[in-house]
Amino acid sequence: MVQHGTENTDPNPKPLESLDEWEDHLKDRYPEGEAPGSAKDFKATDPNKKREEFRDYEKDARPTVREFYRLNHTYQTLEFARAKREDFTRRNRREMTIWEAMEFLNTLVDDSDPDTDLSQLDHLLQTSEQIRRDGHPRWFVMTGLIHDLGKILCLFDEPQWAVVGDTFPLGCRFSDTIVFAPFFDANPDSKVDEYQSENGIYEEGCGLDQVTMSWGHDEYLYHVVKDSNLPDSALYMIRYHSFYPWHREGAYMNLTNEKDRENLKWVQAFNPYDLYTKSHEQPNLKELKPYYDDLINEFLPGKIRF
Ligand SMILES: [Fe+2]
Ligand SMILES: [Fe+2]
Repeated sequence: MVQHGTENTDPNPKPLESLDEWEDHLKDRYPEGEAPGSAKDFKATDPNKKREEFRDYEKDARPTVREFYRLNHTYQTLEFARAKREDFTRRNRREMTIWEAMEFLNTLVDDSDPDTDLSQLDHLLQTSEQIRRDGHPRWFVMTGLIHDLGKILCLFDEPQWAVVGDTFPLGCRFSDTIVFAPFFDANPDSKVDEYQSENGIYEEGCGLDQVTMSWGHDEYLYHVVKDSNLPDSALYMIRYHSFYPWHREGAYMNLTNEKDRENLKWVQAFNPYDLYTKSHEQPNLKELKPYYDDLINEFLPGKIRF
């Protein structure tokens, strides 16, 4: 049963029928062909025009998607994100190999028709296979394979709004480029004076690593894999792939340092694979397994603490 009501007493309401609904909404907002970073000078974009366009996506969004963003924008506070990060970086929930984690994620059953929907495993393999077909380095393929493993947060009973959704910095002013920005009026952080300036509690140019991002599958997986053999470019893709206000809208540049700006191109290079590689063709796991066994062994061998 989908809950649209505003007086929801369920602590973990599920407004989206499936996590894919959020990603389908992203595809409406960022149609294929408009490559990320194609607006070379982000500042050249007319902010008023942008706002109008966003209003259209907001107007046309399904009620479930709207409700999802309402919850996300209302409850993602600096205090909440810090507490979740502290809790989940203990990594004391499960120990699994990457394959086991993929299979575990695959047990996430959405309410939508399972016959027409691709599984989480399919999305991961379709992403990594397209990256491989395009001749990218092995670390890039590996990143595609694991980038959404953080969605196992749902299986640890975290609500949807704390697992998926566009991510954004906390402790500073919410950018107008965040979809459904008006919902931030209900966020307690909107009433904290210290958080209302562009830099908020941060120093200009401090670097995104210093910034507390809204909590979700990106930030979580980053903490799980940050000490692996993956290069920084891969870690950026994992950590910021849902940070649309930055990698598609050019906001929050004031918080970035040189390393962030250098890696932005990798986050942008990854985005089309995340958004546009869904096909109805199911990857042949049996055929692919030997290649991926090798790949996993190279970058994230053995049991990983989640
Ligand atoms: Fe994701
Ligand atoms: Fe994804």
